[in-house]
Amino acid sequence: MDGHSLSASLQGFERLDMMEDATSGLKAIIAIDQTRLGPALGGCRMWMYASEEAAILDALRLARGMTYKSALAGIPYGGGKAVIIGNPATDKSSRLFRSLGRFIERLNGRYITGMDLGTTPLDMDEILHETRHVTDVTGSLGATGHFTAEMTAYGVYIAIRTSLKQKYGSEQLQQRTVAVQGLGKVGFALCRYLHQSGAQLIVADLDNRLVQLAATQFGAAPVAVDVIHKQPCDVFAPCALGGILNDLTIPELKCQIVAGAANNQLAEPRHDALLKQAAILYAPDYAINAGGIIVTAAELDGSSASYAQSQVERIGDTLASIYGKSAGTAPGTLPPAAAADAITRKLIGL
Ligand code: NAI
Repeated sequence: MDGHSLSASLQGFERLDMMEDATSGLKAIIAIDQTRLGPALGGCRMWMYASEEAAILDALRLARGMTYKSALAGIPYGGGKAVIIGNPATDKSSRLFRSLGRFIERLNGRYITGMDLGTTPLDMDEILHETRHVTDVTGSLGATGHFTAEMTAYGVYIAIRTSLKQKYGSEQLQQRTVAVQGLGKVGFALCRYLHQSGAQLIVADLDNRLVQLAATQFGAAPVAVDVIHKQPCDVFAPCALGGILNDLTIPELKCQIVAGAANNQLAEPRHDALLKQAAILYAPDYAINAGGIIVTAAELDGSSASYAQSQVERIGDTLASIYGKSAGTAPGTLPPAAAADAITRKLIGL
């Protein structure tokens, strides 16, 4: 990356630290976007990045995403992220995570880490030897069962109800059909909530075992992974990949609402407006998949699981206010993701 594009990417960020420790083999980056509302909170990702540049850009993008997610969820934290360049299957060691822990400790509480792709509670336990600014350690709420994913699914379920109300005037799920893309920790739990409320389900996953389980437990209708977004339904719920809403898929959608857990669903910001033009109601991803970070924040503040769940329920009101701001076609009306960004920037004071 040349100096010019790095400084452009760094716009508005508070801090970027790169660390290399020959003894432990650690090569990592910590990006702190904002601490205006509180310490920067965001997990530690371990990934085989193709280059240092790719790792920096990922850390910056993820840290910014955390700023927006926490602010909109109303929790008193800013956004940050750590990324370790390495193979999570072969490059992990106690020394490596303890070395990262020492770097985090030097930030004096400005950044709090946790689990993300490629890291586990055992890795967080190593970090805990060096700093208390770490979540998701063994025995914590976030590391118990799939509670974080469960609450993420619950938040998406609440958001689907709010979206139905906005679109049809009733949040009832009976007689409604939801197409769920991805039956992992979040997608499967979401299917359970929807099924319990009487929704009909259409599902797809690369893992046929999960598809069969959803068919047996919830009476879900399986379809192939490349056609799930084309199913006639009330709600399409992306719970697998980012970038799923793009120039190819948007014209093929046959839903009234898109509301799912996947991060970064819009391939580009302009796809927000494209969905609005197609009269498809889009529930901005970071507004509705905040259940996990709400659990982490509740735990940091010493609150209970039931308190965390009550906070997740507020996602419905937040989403309703976004829809309120983006309703109608008057000139200057923002599509939902842009409306969410505008509301969030105001909350952060940007
Ligand atoms: P997971 O890894 O448990 O499940 C993802 C599932 O998607 C897997 O079963 C996988 O086989 C399936 N999949 C992958 N490609 C697919 C495709 N092309 N079509 C259909 N299925 C496909 O992940 P998890 O935790 O359920 O997360 C799902 C999404 O939600 C991810 O985008 C994640 O970033 C996002 N998210 C998760 C949170 C959490 O608390 N776990 C919090 C916020 C966002």
